Amino acid sequence: MEEMIETLPQHTCSWLKDKMTMYKYQDFWAIKRHLEGGIQAQQSFKAEPSDVFLCSAPKTGTTWLKSLVFAIVTREKFDESTTPLLTKLAHECVPILEILQVKEHENNRKNSGLPLVATHFPYASLPKSVISSNCKIVYIYRNIKDVIVSNYHFRREAFKLPMEDAPFEEAFEEFYQGISNFGPYWDHVLGYWKASLERPDSILLLKYEDLKRDPTSNLKRLADFIGYPFSVDEEKAGVVDNIIRFCSFENMSNLEVNKTGKPNGGSLENRLYYRKAKDGDWKNYFTDEMKEKTDKLTDEKFNGTGLVLK
Ligand code: A3P
Repeated sequence: MEEMIETLPQHTCSWLKDKMTMYKYQDFWAIKRHLEGGIQAQQSFKAEPSDVFLCSAPKTGTTWLKSLVFAIVTREKFDESTTPLLTKLAHECVPILEILQVKEHENNRKNSGLPLVATHFPYASLPKSVISSNCKIVYIYRNIKDVIVSNYHFRREAFKLPMEDAPFEEAFEEFYQGISNFGPYWDHVLGYWKASLERPDSILLLKYEDLKRDPTSNLKRLADFIGYPFSVDEEKAGVVDNIIRFCSFENMSNLEVNKTGKPNGGSLENRLYYRKAKDGDWKNYFTDEMKEKTDKLTDEKFNGTGLVLK
């Protein structure tokens, strides 16, 4: 596998002082570790109809979506004082296909009964059984310009580079050229969007900004879609509101585990997944030219789709 990956087109991120290399596989870019696990999953992962796949490009609200869905699915098993979300990063509660070994996944699912799996792989590159099993897929997406800024800070901080050593202009240009983890981002969104039109019963698209603006109806829609609807009694008892409040940025980012922990004892700090969560933060970084270029490209790519990510 490693030898095959080394034959793929490569890109080393100069704005990250050459500390990260991405490889182009099946028309998207990814780091070697994600490709190794993801390709292995493509070859052997057997999805089941009861599985729920949480899909996203990085920095679009994955951590939030995982917390919300985990809280929905486990609400009878745990309450706010016992949920694993208090002691583990959401990414440890909902494993990602391209990092955990396939066998480990399948054992987790059997042992804990949790049907949740996450992935950043584009729709066209999902393991075939994810589509043939007809399992539920939820896809979250977000304003492109905020994703670019979020990605910049996440990568920069992951490699412990101060802003003066990591030029935003270069990070922007790279992303704009389509070279981003699991990108081009535009194609990632389009892939899931097209699939959701063809298979609306299996694929739900959620927009990060909509989830923020109207969390209640979006959470109910999400719970209905994945087959864990809230009962009238639950709604009256405030279960929906409690999940929204517990999974809010304010609450999650202040939990000790998310302020000081590291997932699986790895080197990335949990706090990197909780930065600002502000819509429109791009305005603090983009020049007028960057805005125009991005909007123009977005218009071209999304022409006729009805997708609004500006
Ligand atoms: P910012 O960098 O703009 O703050 P991902 O989870 O896909 O890696 O995306 C990370 C982005 O989601 C970060 O955005 C992060 O702050 C934001 N985020 C994390 N938890 C959130 C939550 N509970 N509610 C809203 N946004 C959240």
